[in-house]
Amino acid sequence: MTPSPVCPVANRYRVRRARQDDIPSLGSLVRFYAEQGILLPRTEEEFRETIRDFRVIRSEGRVIGCAVLHFYTAKVAELRSLAVLPAHRGEGLGRHLVEALLEEARVSDLDMVFALTYATEFFARLGFVPIDREWIPWKAWKDCLACPKRECCDEIAVARWLKPTAVCGPPPPFSLAAGVLPVLRQEATRRKTTAYFGDIFQK
Ligand SMILES: CC(C)(COP(=O)(O)OP(=O)(O)OC[C@H]1O[C@@H](n2cnc3c(N)ncnc32)[C@H](O)[C@@H]1OP(=O)(O)O)[C@@H](O)C(=O)NCCC(=O)NCCS
Repeated sequence: MTPSPVCPVANRYRVRRARQDDIPSLGSLVRFYAEQGILLPRTEEEFRETIRDFRVIRSEGRVIGCAVLHFYTAKVAELRSLAVLPAHRGEGLGRHLVEALLEEARVSDLDMVFALTYATEFFARLGFVPIDREWIPWKAWKDCLACPKRECCDEIAVARWLKPTAVCGPPPPFSLAAGVLPVLRQEATRRKTTAYFGDIFQK
């Protein structure tokens, strides 16, 4: 990825596609936060299968930051397994990783990227806003079924829209969810959405 002339972090640290030999330190970084219940645990087999999707920042021979974009539909992806080694937190690496993946999402013509997180302030600084979980039903079909916290999940759903046109009128996840959610629940979601995001969508 091209170094930014204005961002010192981007000049110092490169976000690159992960390789198989990143797996040991990538795995231990994700495991560190998974053991605290902050990230979903991933097996070595999962890493091997999805390693090409991971983006990493390396320093001193190990992965110090990682994130992955997981595509659910042609227009929606989840940003997940975002982690920065504790010793490097607050240096701008998290922002650097998210911005790199948002750029990839734009290149892939996505409308929206979402995340489930406790780090809501961090995501707010990157332009993500809270959303109703009903907008992201795909998530429940996959990871949530295997998650130890599926009955008591307290993570917040946040999303970032990537195109001005995508936020005019009902947001894309609403229409993509058609046929998945009962019509009445969709209508309730639409009303809540308009109440919450009305100002943003009208701009
Ligand atoms: C969330 C996380 C990735 C942030 O990475 P980071 O490298 O420390 O964040 P950055 O240094 O890039 O911070 C970017 C901005 O967010 C702010 N920020 C970062 N963490 C924050 C927090 N916990 N609360 C409030 N603001 C925060 C920074 O102050 C900075 O603001 P600024 O650009 O206005 O100066 C990192 O704290 C982490 O690995 N957390 C544990 C795993 C996790 O929660 N992952 C998210 C799951 S989806």
